[in-house]
Amino acid sequence: MLPLPNSSSLNSESALPSTGVRADFTVDQNWESYSDEDHAIWRELFERQAALLPGRVVPEFLEGLDFLSVAADGIPDFARLNELLKDATGWTIVAVPGLVPDEVFFDHLANRRFPATHWIRDRAQLDYLEEPDLFHDVFGHVPLLANPVFADYMQAYGKGGLRASGKGALQYLARLYWYTVEFGLIETREGLRIYGAGIVSSKSESIFALESPSPNRIGFDLERVMSTLYRIDDFQETYFVIKSFQSLFNATAQDFAPIYKELDRRPDFDPGVILESDRVIFRGNGSYHR
Ligand code: PHE
Ligand code: FE
Repeated sequence: MLPLPNSSSLNSESALPSTGVRADFTVDQNWESYSDEDHAIWRELFERQAALLPGRVVPEFLEGLDFLSVAADGIPDFARLNELLKDATGWTIVAVPGLVPDEVFFDHLANRRFPATHWIRDRAQLDYLEEPDLFHDVFGHVPLLANPVFADYMQAYGKGGLRASGKGALQYLARLYWYTVEFGLIETREGLRIYGAGIVSSKSESIFALESPSPNRIGFDLERVMSTLYRIDDFQETYFVIKSFQSLFNATAQDFAPIYKELDRRPDFDPGVILESDRVIFRGNGSYHR
């Protein structure tokens, strides 16, 4: 699930009849209603990513992936998945028809509930789709929810969102989410690894983010990230690299209210820029976006 700007209304194409949608925007997953083709698409995407990710993804992700393989060899039944996940970190998955309003999203996260889209893409969209579907939400996000530190970060993010709502600060939080939860990279002893759900659920970006000479890879800095615009329709021009989940958690534990005020007085940065103050891990040549 991505918190996109203007995500305040349900996508009408993917919404269930309104009678099935609860006040918190959840619906029944209705696992029995998936077709054989839906399950086959899950399996194909799962196997493709599972083959690609070892050596590219942070080890904690692969540990969490066990939950998904144990829960099903097709689209996981959220009820079964939740039994495992709840034991691990207290998180549960709730089904939603699509993007939900920001405050609803934050409230779910603050209560350790992850809203996951209940429908899966069709075969024509195996490689790219414009909105999150079940594969992105579940394969991309759930494995790290089994990691205690990342699980705490996600809840803290939700609480921070509730605090920031109405303060005109949501764009800063959205950028933080984007450059960490969705498109984050992490330094490990073995080298750079991916952990962001937008990358790990995409075959082409799993390769691009790590191996292309095009994008910048810059050390994570909270204010830098919150000031940086992002691309929603293409590979990122810049990836930000954290040192560990604990360091990300620690860097975001402070009260953001004074930072929001300060950022309001500063300019935003374009996605591809490099600043003098950046810790540049890799200076991209920009060949892809040019
Ligand atoms: N510390 C943030 C605040 O004061 C909350 C937050 C934590 C936001 C983690 C994002 C991630 O609002
Ligand atoms: Fe997402």
